Amino acid sequence: MTKQFDVIVIGGGPGGYIAAIRAAQLGFNVACIDEWKNKDGKPAPGGTCTNVGCIPSKALLQSSEHFEHAGKHFVDHGINVKGLELDLAKMLSRKDTVVKQNNDGILFLFKKNKVAFFHGRGSFVKADAAGYEIKVSGAAEETLTGKHIIVATGSNPRALPGAPFDEENILSNDGALRIPAVPKKLGLIGSGVIGLEMGSVWRRLGAEVTVLEALPTFLGAVDEQIAKEAKKAFDKQGLKIELGVKVGEIKNSKKGVSVAWTNAKGEAQLLEVDKLIVSIGRVPNTIGLGHEAVGLKLDERGAIAVDDQCKTNLPNVWAIGDAVRGPMLAHKAEEEGVAVAERIAGQHGHVNFNTIPWVIYTSPEIAWVGQTEQQLKAAGVQYKAGTFPFMANGRARALGDTTGMVKFLADAKTDEILGVHIVGPMASELIAEAVVAMEFRASSEDIARICHAHPSLSEATKEAALAVDKRTLNF
Ligand code: FAD
Ligand code: NAI
Repeated sequence: MTKQFDVIVIGGGPGGYIAAIRAAQLGFNVACIDEWKNKDGKPAPGGTCTNVGCIPSKALLQSSEHFEHAGKHFVDHGINVKGLELDLAKMLSRKDTVVKQNNDGILFLFKKNKVAFFHGRGSFVKADAAGYEIKVSGAAEETLTGKHIIVATGSNPRALPGAPFDEENILSNDGALRIPAVPKKLGLIGSGVIGLEMGSVWRRLGAEVTVLEALPTFLGAVDEQIAKEAKKAFDKQGLKIELGVKVGEIKNSKKGVSVAWTNAKGEAQLLEVDKLIVSIGRVPNTIGLGHEAVGLKLDERGAIAVDDQCKTNLPNVWAIGDAVRGPMLAHKAEEEGVAVAERIAGQHGHVNFNTIPWVIYTSPEIAWVGQTEQQLKAAGVQYKAGTFPFMANGRARALGDTTGMVKFLADAKTDEILGVHIVGPMASELIAEAVVAMEFRASSEDIARICHAHPSLSEATKEAALAVDKRTLNF
């Protein structure tokens, strides 16, 4: 007997579970299939983000930051800590608890919204007049039929050729989040988002960290001025980042990992480390989806081919999140999930790709929305820029965290905000104001004239907006 649904979502990450909830809110009979298991073999919905991504990485970033503050910065506040010790097992187990709270929260939300949850792998079997037949292979096997299918199967870490992940010595994001003892020497390949976040965690806990990056520029997608400021801070912290490198042979043995590499000057080098994290991007996941059975098309990158509405080549089959084009971010996946559920209901779901914020949760945090100065220059757009340093912000001084700045870019003629870039304390929270402003197509003058609480970090945002018109008040 097949179970009939209006909407079947394959994948229960941030894209899939949010799509399922929104579809259920809209009155559909919804199933969500997810195969992720925790170490006890129990369902662990939430995908990469909840299990081995956003949530556990932020838990460890927080814990490791506390450790560093206690060891290095409390003393500035007149707090002397004696006998500071790291209990890594406890730190990792706290992180696991945070993950489980999120897994359980999603299961609760499924119940609350009457989404039928199936634990196992979902794969296409066939399409007929009733809709799409999907087989669930898990502890038990079931067959479901859905009129609409939303594919939200996420992504997997990309391995370096010749250096497969063993999660013992050569680690993906998964192993990087559960190293049982702080490595003396840690290597990372790729100074992208994972490289910087995971590199920061293990450096703060005492590892000597070297990051090897192929590109000659640091964080090429980030506004140059902001990237430079961030690099200065990372250098000061002792995070060793080598740019313009060519990674050669990688040897993995019981003793550790050795990486042959060539530096930007073309000189041969050898990096010997206890553990190596490879963070060179992620690939869309369609493993076991059975897309061939129904002729679901992939693009040249192996992502599910979709248009700007997340429609695939098949009627009533949609795809969202990391499995499709666009930035691999949890909030982008969620927005697409909501938009698709609304489109299925005949509404006009919308995702504005111009106002998707990015955040790198290092210290200082890096956050941005919209265009960078180098993008505006390349596009020949006439713009005005305004910056304000946290050094001149009272709250930042009180916090003892004055690194960085807020930067506004606005259209030279209309003053519409084109981009906001922040490096500094709580950039992840501050960026929300900029996103709202850009979504409402505000001008920098709008932000400059809004009353911001004092003393707050958000005053730096107001001051950067004032700086566009060269009238900062506190700098
Ligand atoms: P996923 O979260 O990958 O979920 C897909 C789910 O589908 C998984 O549970 C998978 O098991 C399941 N699945 C796959 N195929 C099948 C099948 N055939 N049947 C059943 N189930 C299936 N993004 C941010 O925005 N902020 C961050 O701070 C952030 N931090 C990150 C840190 C790390 C270390 C990593 C690796 C990623 C981070 N990301 C972050 C990216 C974020 O995790 C992804 O963009 C997000 O998880 C994508 O959501 P998704 O729903 O498309 O896919
Ligand atoms: P990334 O795309 O951010 O960075 C990969 C880096 O590796 C790039 O700088 C690239 O030039 C470099 N690289 C590629 N091949 C290389 C090679 N052979 N040798 C040396 N360097 C090489 O990818 P990353 O860090 O793996 O993260 C994957 C994705 O996960 C991110 O793009 C992001 O979408 C998501 N993520 C988001 C986070 C957030 O929002 N805070 C945190 C972590 C991940």
